[in-house]
Amino acid sequence: MKKALITIGSTREYIDPVRYISNESSGRQGMALIKSLLKSNYKIICLHGYIQVKQIVSKNVKYIFTSSAKDMLKEAKKYKSVDLGIFNAAVSDYKVEKYSKVKIKKNNGLSLKLINNPDVLKSMSTGKNKPKITVGFAYETDNVLQNAKKKLLSKNCDFIVLNYPTPKNKIFNTNYNNGILIGRSGASLKIGSVSKTIFADKIVKFLKNIKA
Ligand code: CTP
Repeated sequence: MKKALITIGSTREYIDPVRYISNESSGRQGMALIKSLLKSNYKIICLHGYIQVKQIVSKNVKYIFTSSAKDMLKEAKKYKSVDLGIFNAAVSDYKVEKYSKVKIKKNNGLSLKLINNPDVLKSMSTGKNKPKITVGFAYETDNVLQNAKKKLLSKNCDFIVLNYPTPKNKIFNTNYNNGILIGRSGASLKIGSVSKTIFADKIVKFLKNIKA
C-alpha cells in the first residue's frame, strides 16, 4: 500500500491565551482529498490544524492534530520519504514575536510585532525526508498563473495546485473549488470550477499515474 502524508485545515498562532491569528480554511478540500486517496488505496497520515468538517473514519487514516506551523512541521518531519506529500493546509505565515501568557488588557491601541513562521511545504520538499512526490497548493487572487508558477519553483515542489476565486465561486467555506494543477515538467491539468469532491478525485487520479 502506498503511503501519503497530507496537511489540511488552518493553523492558529496564539497572541495570548484567548486570541489568535488564523485564516478561513475549513478543511473541506483536504477531507475530500483524503476520501479520494482512500479510494485509490493509500495509507494516509493527516496532519490537521483546525477543521470545520467531519473526519472520515478509516483504519487507513491516522489523524494528528497540530495547532501551529511549528507543531505541524515538527510532526511532518517524523514521516520519512512517503510516496506522496500533499500540503493543503492554510498555514499562518506569521506569529507574534512575543506570546503573552496572560490575557492582554484593553488599552489605547495595540501594536503586535509579527515574525515569519517556518514553511512546512518548503522545508519538507527541500529536506532529507522529502516525500517522493510533493504537491503544494496556491490560493491566488491576482496574476494567478504567474504567482502559482513562482510558488512551484520557490517551494521546490513537484506540483502546485492553483486555486483562484471567480465572481461566482469564492472557494473558502464553499463546496466548490476552481483551479489548475501545474507540474514542474510543464505538464498541467485544467480542472476548472467543480465540487471539491470532483476536484480531489481529478488530482488524485492524475498523481496516481505519476512515476516518482
Ligand atoms: N505553506 C506551508 N507553510 C507555510 C505557508 C504555506 O506549508 N508557512 C504551504 C501551503 O500548505 C500551500 C503552499 O505552501 O501548499 C502555499 O501556501 P500559500 O498560503 O498560498 O502561500 P504562501 O507561501 O503563504 O505565500 P503568499 O501568502 O505570499 O501567497
